[in-house]
Amino acid sequence: GADPTGGGCDAGRVSTVITDIGELVTNDPGRGDGALGLLRDAAVVIDGDAVAWVGPARRAPAADERYDAAGRAVLPGFVDSHAHLVFAGERAEEFAARMSGRPYTAGGIRTTVARTRAASDDDLRANLRRLVGEMARQGTTTVECKSGYGLTVEQEERCLRIAAETADEVTFLGAHVVPPEYAGDPAGYVRLVATEMLAACAPHARWIDVFCEDGAFDADQSREILTAGVRAGLTPRVHANQLGPGPGVRLAVELGAASADHCTHLTDADVDALASAGTVATLLPGVDFSTRQPYPDARRLIDAGVTVALATDCNPGSCYTSSMPFCIALAVRDLRMTPAEAVWAATAGGARALRRDDVGRLAPGARADVLVLDAPSHVHLAYRPGVPQVAAVWKAGRRVPA
Ligand code: NIG
Ligand code: FE
Repeated sequence: GADPTGGGCDAGRVSTVITDIGELVTNDPGRGDGALGLLRDAAVVIDGDAVAWVGPARRAPAADERYDAAGRAVLPGFVDSHAHLVFAGERAEEFAARMSGRPYTAGGIRTTVARTRAASDDDLRANLRRLVGEMARQGTTTVECKSGYGLTVEQEERCLRIAAETADEVTFLGAHVVPPEYAGDPAGYVRLVATEMLAACAPHARWIDVFCEDGAFDADQSREILTAGVRAGLTPRVHANQLGPGPGVRLAVELGAASADHCTHLTDADVDALASAGTVATLLPGVDFSTRQPYPDARRLIDAGVTVALATDCNPGSCYTSSMPFCIALAVRDLRMTPAEAVWAATAGGARALRRDDVGRLAPGARADVLVLDAPSHVHLAYRPGVPQVAAVWKAGRRVPA
């Protein structure tokens, strides 16, 4: 092909053939069986940061390097489309109190805000990198990261700047909760978020999010912030219907949000609204697990034609898991998704929620985000819950160190 250095072997760009794949999840129904586009006895060729070739192992072209998958399953890396990773400290005691009966409330966010404000840039950066590394070793190759533990103009701007260094997708969540210094003036805080804070933060972010919930922001406040975000060039996503029924899902649909996240408490009208729109329902079963909430009804959403994504929501309060395989296992066992639906939702579904077509699938031209499972099929992700099953991971063509 066209090699700008003129040589046959560009030192900076290596091709790798992953061969003897027992089961390949392409998420390309035109290429293989079912919604996962499954191929047997397949190979994938990575060239630089992209997939160059996908097909039967016996016809695979040669490459600089060879990885023998020895009959294992290969998937696109997981797309974790919802996480809060710029923070300091932890809240293990709050979790323990919850497990002995105390309910989860949005108020716990303020504990992390105080710790985050007091942390140095380097401490926030190191914690973020630790978590993104933890995710990568578990097969996650695309990470969305929100702000929301700074809640001043300077602190939110700082959190987003740090997020953008490491995360694939960055979301401004100044409207996570009203910070203590605005406790008597929530309207003043909404105005700040929609004006000065947004102006400082928009250059670092692609998305704007609001926690639309009792104890956080109501429909009018959320609409004001999200529409200001749209005017600033950001696309909405919404924390909706997490702790009880509410207006979040319908607001997300009204504003053409990419995703309504949580969706634990839905009315028929909410399900109908999602089904008639392009808004993805992003389910976060790790949160419902870690807050002892009921689980969302994925079956009802899928049967109504709604696109469902799965994500971790990794954060120090409501859910401190970074494991997409754990979320897949919960989705299959407790949200009544099939293993194939859950794997699709954790890869292609996350890509839809982030409006990305270069990740969440394995086809020529896609980013070379590849997960080799230490198992013969994708079903094992839910079938063997809690068992490490990652054999190898490439992110944008680079091998993730084990
Ligand atoms: O997605 N719902 C709002 N935000 C997070 C929780 C953050 C926290 O408790 O620190 C969530 O669950
Ligand atoms: Fe969240």
